[in-house]
Amino acid sequence: MDQLSTKHLLGIKQLNAKDIELIFNTADNFKEVINRPIKKVPSLRDITIANLFFENSTRTKLSFELAEKRLSADVINFSAAASSVSKGETLIDTVNNILAMKVDMVVMRHPNPGASIFLSKHIDANIVNAGDGAHEHPTQALLDAYSIREQNKDFKDKRVVIVGDILHSRVALSNIFCLQKLGAKVMVCGPPTLIPKYMESLNVLVEYNLDKALAWADTVMMLRIQLERQNAGEHNVKLFPTLREYHQMYGLTFSRLDKLKKLPIIMHPGPINRGVEISSEVADSKSSIILNQVENGVAIRMAVLYLLASNSTLKD
Ligand code: CP
Repeated sequence: MDQLSTKHLLGIKQLNAKDIELIFNTADNFKEVINRPIKKVPSLRDITIANLFFENSTRTKLSFELAEKRLSADVINFSAAASSVSKGETLIDTVNNILAMKVDMVVMRHPNPGASIFLSKHIDANIVNAGDGAHEHPTQALLDAYSIREQNKDFKDKRVVIVGDILHSRVALSNIFCLQKLGAKVMVCGPPTLIPKYMESLNVLVEYNLDKALAWADTVMMLRIQLERQNAGEHNVKLFPTLREYHQMYGLTFSRLDKLKKLPIIMHPGPINRGVEISSEVADSKSSIILNQVENGVAIRMAVLYLLASNSTLKD
């Protein structure tokens, strides 16, 4: 059986193109399974998975839990808000207590960049990063690329623009790594204050004008403004004036799309701020594959969990 090159999924940076193709091919099989009348397979029977969410989530949390249940794993859920973290318990103590209950795999979302990497150095279970601060969100990038692959088959010469709050986005960084490993060209677009200077060193194109970016791209990935992570920039200057002005400059609307020769594929990882980065009309249009992304998330997460469980004897 083909195997991943890694024991954990900490970020796309640690995967190679062969790993990504293996995840996609495995997800193809699981997508077929979840569309059957009986959607469950016994692949992870006797495996116990803990979902540790130290930060809010709708899609990722539900999608992992569903993926785990479809694979017949035993599942326990932990949410920081309702836990002893509020009494001062550390991350390592929390996780070691959970592992003492004989847990095999840990899926973790955490507000601190690098939290999953830190954990992988201290515990023996397989770790899946479900989003760590503004660092990486690997399963989101995998499901995004898988959704593009469904539309296009091949990534060579594909042009993907990621639009919006790149500065605070783990989705952007994971997608840049993933799409580049698969051979696509990547551009980022947004206000200069929300595009970090290191972007050009990642070999991505940078464009501040949304109309020019749309004319270049065949796929548009819209990101929400992460209001919960907006700190004033250098010299205490606001990173953008108002949401209304942001929408005028960077909102995806049909009045912009109507100027293009061909409509691009439109994506969004969610949650959407309707009327800010994207109009409702565009989000719900035929060009939008936003709900296909959500559907594919379950198959991708089943593939990741299944492949990592087969790799549990690998060293870090
Ligand atoms: N896309 C995504 O990570 O959404 P949630 O924050 O709802 O999990």
